[in-house]
Amino acid sequence: MTPVSEILYLIAAVLFILSIKGLAHPKSARRGNILGAAGMMLAVLVTVFKPNVLSYSAIFTAMAIGGGIGAFIALKIKMTALPQLVAGFHSLVGLAAVFVAAAAFSSPTAYGIGIPGNIHVGSLIEMSLGTAIGAVTFTGSLVAFGKLQGLIGGKPLRFQGQHILNLVLGIFLVGLILWLCESSSPVAFWLINILALSLGILLILPIGGADMPVVVSMLNSYSGWAACGIGFTLENNLLVVTGALVGSSGAILSYIMCKGMNRSLLNVIFGGFGAEATADAADKDTGDRNVRTGSADDAAFLMQNASSVIIVPGYGMAVAQSQHALREMSDMLKNRGIKVRYAIHPVAGRMPGHMNVLLAEANVPYDDVLELDEINRDFSQTDVAFVIGANDITNPAAKTDTSSPIYGMPILEVENAKTVLFVKRSMAAGYAGVDNELFFRPNTMMLFGDAKKMVEDILKAMED
Ligand code: TAP
Repeated sequence: MTPVSEILYLIAAVLFILSIKGLAHPKSARRGNILGAAGMMLAVLVTVFKPNVLSYSAIFTAMAIGGGIGAFIALKIKMTALPQLVAGFHSLVGLAAVFVAAAAFSSPTAYGIGIPGNIHVGSLIEMSLGTAIGAVTFTGSLVAFGKLQGLIGGKPLRFQGQHILNLVLGIFLVGLILWLCESSSPVAFWLINILALSLGILLILPIGGADMPVVVSMLNSYSGWAACGIGFTLENNLLVVTGALVGSSGAILSYIMCKGMNRSLLNVIFGGFGAEATADAADKDTGDRNVRTGSADDAAFLMQNASSVIIVPGYGMAVAQSQHALREMSDMLKNRGIKVRYAIHPVAGRMPGHMNVLLAEANVPYDDVLELDEINRDFSQTDVAFVIGANDITNPAAKTDTSSPIYGMPILEVENAKTVLFVKRSMAAGYAGVDNELFFRPNTMMLFGDAKKMVEDILKAMED
């Protein structure tokens, strides 16, 4: 590497760090995104114009195909399918790590890390860790993709002795890595890959739907560490830094989500957490209890006569794409002097920041959007909680039912508002498959219908 390319790599690394900082807040997210893209462009250009490149035609063909597929997916993908898309992309990062390790192992002289059968121990350590983590990430992300896309049942798949088996396989994997480092044996290298590929499947299959967001973020972290390991093999400092950034930010995000869902990070890493409870709860019968239903006119009347309204958006708002109509509704209420704010749960929707992105797209003022900790106490002094397409994040079972898969998850305490309006299409449960007892409370009114249509009808009723 020339000093110039090292300096350019350093600039790219700084751009990545500034990008992550920018992405931490909706106000600066757009700038963060541009900085990240600029850093990646710089990184690619510097790498492509390195003097030891053998075939530009192969590189540019691969870039055209990959870039074309990426652009096509970005244009076509629905916002609601982003979590599985992220899982799918992570699988590719894992697979790339496996391929690079396999290439370096097969042609060590080309990489300057020794000769076949006698590779430097340091390189063998980096390579074996990179390929093992990459293989786990690859198959684990594919399973996560399958579950989120509905190709594999969302229910956890468990069998007796699963944890013991995973533990034994994990110990075996460490043994194989030691063997590889000591012998440079191809058998050890390929066994590491086979074992790690199997572990990826075994670790993610038993995890139930409710924990999937943490799993996707954890796999994001794994893919970063795999890239970091491979960066050492390739002696590419930028890949080391970028991999470490992805690895650590993914781990921090997982920790934040675990806190948001009251899950243990260790249990997520080792798989199988909350699985039994999710399966049981999904099969529960709802019974024949009565609920109070209302119309758009009722909702308009209640909100127009309120002095404060808190809007609680969830996954259904994203499905219905009702954020623009929702903003119009809140503008109209504000024009009448009513205090309107939005309450955001850390795992509302299907990906971190899902609600923030949609509300920002609809130009909802950032200052009106408050996090759970900032707004939860205010529900008790609020006239109307307008829950739109949200369910699990308001479910009091998280506080009271120790057998519930969402037990311990902090919730938005909408039940403390004078009136709770729930906009949803039916009595169906949410993502975790748990009934919401709030629907039957006397201060709740159910507004059955598609979220966008219902808000548009409320707007019409307010105009009349
Ligand atoms: P959910 O609990 O999934 O509830 C969403 C509700 O929206 C459903 O009950 C559904 O009821 C309703 N809905 C769907 N389409 C609708 C439409 N077109 N119009 C009106 N309503 C509609 O969502 P939530 O409250 O946002 O909670 C999030 C859940 O997802 C949590 O369990 C969380 O752990 C999990 N999760 C989160 C993430 C992240 S990181 N945010 C990622 C994956 C999973 P109907 O069918 O009756 O309409």
